[in-house]
Amino acid sequence: MQMLDKFPESELLKVELPIDNKVIYQLKRGQSVCDDTARLVETVLDNHENTEKNVIDLGSGNGIIAIMLSLYRSNWRISGLEIQPELFHLSCMNRDLLKLDINFTEGDLKRSELFFTEKMFDLIVANPPYFSLKSGKASPYPEKALSRQEILCNMADLVKSVKYLMSDEGEAFFVYPEQRESELKSLIKKVDLKVADKIFINKNNLKKRMIIYRINYVKN
Ligand SMILES: C[S@@+](CC[C@H](N)C(=O)[O-])C[C@H]1O[C@@H](n2cnc3c(N)ncnc32)[C@H](O)[C@@H]1O
Repeated sequence: MQMLDKFPESELLKVELPIDNKVIYQLKRGQSVCDDTARLVETVLDNHENTEKNVIDLGSGNGIIAIMLSLYRSNWRISGLEIQPELFHLSCMNRDLLKLDINFTEGDLKRSELFFTEKMFDLIVANPPYFSLKSGKASPYPEKALSRQEILCNMADLVKSVKYLMSDEGEAFFVYPEQRESELKSLIKKVDLKVADKIFINKNNLKKRMIIYRINYVKN
């Protein structure tokens, strides 16, 4: 198998995708692909058919969300934006291994306007870092810490980026812990967005419930 020089196989773990025995890779020392990601992909697919649209994954990591969506939705033009250079390169490697057409960009979602035009996307998906800087101890592995904690962007930055990137009829799907719901609602209200639906990921875990929020514009 031909790997980029950047990634010796000893640094990578295989991720088996639930489609045609396809495999991509994640960094051993990075954030593992988890249930939240799988449920987010499933929810987006349940709610959107294969009609043409522009879609972006904000904080695309190793590319798993964009790649899964691309495998199931051939008519979507899919982009991903990722700030960690290594993960960006890994997402490109994963895309090329599966011969998919996805536009991965290395960059900061706080500067979304540098990479994309206003209102360009019909659908925005994000599994963002969801622990605030106050909560919990950061992972000693920088790749993990930057994925889990709001070090390089916070919820307000994500909402601002969505407000800039999302078309008037568009919608966004984010994952956050239930404890942050009032903060999320208050931030999106300020930019005329609303929660249209909530999908529980682990309904019975009352202490750590994760929710997928479906978000769109408030219509007058
Ligand atoms: C929880 S991980 C999700 C990764 C992948 N989408 C998944 O579901 O497995 C969050 C991702 O957001 C990226 N990220 C954090 N701050 C960012 C920023 N300011 N701009 C772009 N990406 C960012 C992290 O590097 C990380 O890859």
